Formats: sequence, structure tokens, C-alpha cells
Amino acid sequence: MLKTDLVTNLAGLKLRTPLLLASGVVGYAVEYEKIDEIDFNSLGGIVLKGVNLHGKKGNPQPRIVDSTVGIINSIGLENPGIYKMIDEILPKIPRKTSIIANIFGDTVQEYGEVAEVVNSISEIHAIEVNISCPNVKRGGRLFGSDPSITREVLHTVRQAYHNRPVIAKLSPGVTDITEIAKAAVDGGADVISLINTMPALAVTLHTKPPKPVLGNIVGGLSGPAIKPIGLAKVYQVHQFFKHAGIAVPIIGIGGIMDATDVLEYMAVGARAVQLGTVMFTNYHAHTQIARGIEEYFKKHGFSSKKTDKFVGSVLRSDHPTP
Ligand SMILES: Cc1cc2nc3c(=O)[nH]c(=O)nc-3n(C[C@H](O)[C@H](O)[C@H](O)COP(=O)(O)O)c2cc1C
Repeated sequence: MLKTDLVTNLAGLKLRTPLLLASGVVGYAVEYEKIDEIDFNSLGGIVLKGVNLHGKKGNPQPRIVDSTVGIINSIGLENPGIYKMIDEILPKIPRKTSIIANIFGDTVQEYGEVAEVVNSISEIHAIEVNISCPNVKRGGRLFGSDPSITREVLHTVRQAYHNRPVIAKLSPGVTDITEIAKAAVDGGADVISLINTMPALAVTLHTKPPKPVLGNIVGGLSGPAIKPIGLAKVYQVHQFFKHAGIAVPIIGIGGIMDATDVLEYMAVGARAVQLGTVMFTNYHAHTQIARGIEEYFKKHGFSSKKTDKFVGSVLRSDHPTP
């Protein structure tokens, strides 16, 4: 049981702690809840696996490969679609913590339609918009790599989803992350989460000729290798918002394995974080991490009221871009 109050507020969404589970790592949390002794008190919330309107079959197998510095996955956003999710899965989703839907689409219109359906579900406390996927009407270019499309997607979702926070989840593979973050906020995002995975490939020399390991050839790298990238992106967006007077909270994601990683993300500007790959090896990571944050705050004299002072407290530079 935590002794310190780690309550965090994300644009009106009150979280018990700043620790969320990232989309895709515990599915819809139905099986996760059945694992013995999961401590929901040290968890701020769960971001559900991404859904679109009519579902997706996903990519050919194999879909996950271990790399020395993390994992590469090419699940291909497999999901049953929002209607099946609501009818068959929603009743089984645990109600012990905040639940955040994660949505995507092939077109801007599809994002709006999915958001409209999610809007009718009171058990969902916020919506995270994954814009790291291909726009079929623009030759497969990622929605999140273009500021004007990013603004359009977020505006469309904001029009369809009311009274609860809209989170824009950004991709790290863009020229200027601050431009995309600003576009998301202009479109109506209340919170920015970053980062999604980085494009990556694994090869095996055990075949003749050598072959890519994943069925889809290219997948997304997650885990420790991407933590320094996530830290840089959070730092850049936080500094940009600060100088532009934009009061939008940031959720840090990427390679978090322990409490130190979380505190580093908070120091560069994250109000909350998401745990991804670490959950594959340790179902109780959030509990250990919450205790680690508690210990650090106690040792350094931070109370929950002062947590905001810690967020973004890293030594500031007037020249944040490398
Ligand atoms: C197997 C797997 C499935 C994922 N599925 C989704 C998804 O459906 N939607 C999404 O926005 N991100 C998805 N992600 C990305 C994670 O939410 C997270 O952004 C990424 O893994 C980086 O965090 P990490 O290094 O802590 O794992 C997935 C990641 C993994 C490993």
C-alpha cells in the first residue's frame, strides 16, 4: 500500500498515480485482471488495445521478435472493431482503475466515427488517438507526420467526443515534433502522449538467403533502446509549450523499466507515463515503480502537492533543439 499521495490530474482526469499501462501490452485488460495480486491502487489507469471501426486481421506471423535492446512487433493493429469490443469485451473490462480507449482509422472520417461510438460509453474515461498509422487517402503517409492532417484528425475526434480528455499520441519519426504537438493542440487535444514505437527490422542469417524475421518485414521497436528518444521528444515538446504558454500535460512513453526511468521522464516534463514492454516481463512493474517514486519523493522532500514542481525541473537550456 502506498503511503504517499501520488494522485495526478490530466486535464480533469484524476489518476491515482501517474502510471498508466500503454496501449497494446495488456490487450483489453480482461486476462490481466485475473493474474493474482495485481495491485490496482498503484496504477493510474489502463490504455486499451487500439480499435478502429470494423476491426483488423493484423499482420502475418511472426509478429514479435526479441532484439538485444528491446522488442520489435508488427501486430498490425489487430482488433475486433469498436462494435464487437463494446458488445463482447467491454462488460469484462475491469472497473478498478481509469480506462482509456485507444483509437485509429484509415481515414479522418473513420477516426470521427470511432470517437462518436466511444463517446457513448460512460465507462471510458478518456480517449487516446493513435496517429502513427497510414492514411489510405494520402498514399499511406502517416497521419501524424503532417501537421495539417494531425490538426484535422484531432479536430474531428474533438467534435465527436465530449466532456472527457482527448489525448493525441505522437510518433517519434517526424522532423519537428513540436510542430505536430502544436497542431494536435490546435485541433483540440487536451493531453499529448509520446512516443509510439520506432520503425525497425530484424534479419536472420539462419536461412539461405538471409530473411527478415517478421512476417511484415518491418515492425516497431519498443523497450530500453527508445528511452533516450522518448526523453528528448518529451523535453522538446515541454520546452516548446512552456515558451508558447500552452498548458497541456504530457504523458511520457518509451523504454520505461523502473522508477528511475519514470522520474527522468517527469524531470524533462512528463506529468504521467505509460509502461509498455516492461509489462511483458513483469506484471507487477507498476507496483514496484510506484514504491520507487514514493521513496525518491520522500528522500528529496517532494509531496504530491509539489509533484508539479518536479515535472520539468531538469536544468533548462535556451537551446533545446540538438
Ligand atoms: C505488442 C505491442 C502492441 C502495441 N499496440 C499498440 C496499439 O494498439 N496502439 C498504440 O497506440 N500503441 C501500441 N503499442 C505501442 C505502445 O503503446 C508504446 O507506445 C510503445 O511500446 C513504447 O513504449 P515501451 O518502450 O515502454 O514499450 C504497442 C506496443 C507493443 C509492444
